[in-house]
Amino acid sequence: MNRAVRQLVPRWHFAMMNDRARNEAYRTAIASTVRPGDVVLDIGTGAGLLALFAAERGAELVVTCESEPLVAAAARLVVAQSGFANRVRVVQAHSTELQVGVDLPRPADVLVSEIFDCALLGEGALPALGHARRRLLREDARMVPGRGRLLGQLVESPALYACNAVSTVEGFDLSVFDQFRTLEYFSTCVANYPNRMLSTPFVIFDFNFHSDDVPSRREIEVAVSAPGLCHAVMMWFELDLAPGIVLSNGIDQVGTHWRQAVQTFRKPVPVTAGAQIHITAAHDNERVLVWPGSDQDGESRQAGSEVSTRRIQMHRNDSAWQARRV
Ligand SMILES: C[S@@+](CC[C@H](N)C(=O)[O-])C[C@H]1O[C@@H](n2cnc3c(N)ncnc32)[C@H](O)[C@@H]1O
Repeated sequence: MNRAVRQLVPRWHFAMMNDRARNEAYRTAIASTVRPGDVVLDIGTGAGLLALFAAERGAELVVTCESEPLVAAAARLVVAQSGFANRVRVVQAHSTELQVGVDLPRPADVLVSEIFDCALLGEGALPALGHARRRLLREDARMVPGRGRLLGQLVESPALYACNAVSTVEGFDLSVFDQFRTLEYFSTCVANYPNRMLSTPFVIFDFNFHSDDVPSRREIEVAVSAPGLCHAVMMWFELDLAPGIVLSNGIDQVGTHWRQAVQTFRKPVPVTAGAQIHITAAHDNERVLVWPGSDQDGESRQAGSEVSTRRIQMHRNDSAWQARRV
């Protein structure tokens, strides 16, 4: 029974709820954004923490939705114990099922959300926030966060590369096994692997959550700062929670419960200092892919595997994909 429950309520919830930097950043940002009398929509209740932060700032009503029934039921108990049950309404539903006039008395003044995996998009934030903006919010609604960036850095690290590729081991060529490599990013603590950064951080995607104008593909010229063999792009996010409050899962954020996202290249790319390397990034609203060069099929052919465009057309519930928070 416990195994079955953990399938529905992953253990990362605990590390997330105990992430002090995350909690304090959200609490401060919500305190500076929510005003007495506001109707607040919180997407993704979890245990209800962010909804309670909004209630304590005097929100008239906080509607907080949770798609997982077991989690929604637990949140209702937390809210009941908190003394805020008269102002926090837990709705067991995916946010895209909510309706103004049914679940919300009027379009919300504020949208709060924390549905971000280590590479920003993997928990479905873009479609959920887009839907909320079009259907559930006032036109001039405040958002926590209002903006999110995905950043990247070129990395030399044979040890990281060896997490997702194999060649000759003890004199035997095992490279046939490379057909099973992870073609998308995986999450790991990059600091646990010897590594050398070959570029300064660069922006992969910059999303204004107030806008429908969402970039889905970018060609990026990255300046190489040190010579070496580029094995991967390390990725992390920055969330603008409120003016002056930025939350990040960068490698320097000691104590963050999020790991970093790592996209290994099919083959290491030799780079020289002062040169530029062309990187392409694309996403399908939930999955980010990054590869060297501009020819996606070229990278996939190198991989000797399925063409990347098929990967990018997969749907969220495909068992082959799990969001990578940790
Ligand atoms: C990362 S947890 C955050 C929980 C809580 N907001 C916090 O910050 O402590 C996200 C929760 O939202 C739920 N969720 C994610 N996207 C959702 C959506 N679009 N609608 C409803 N629930 C969602 C997940 O099931 C999960 O329990």
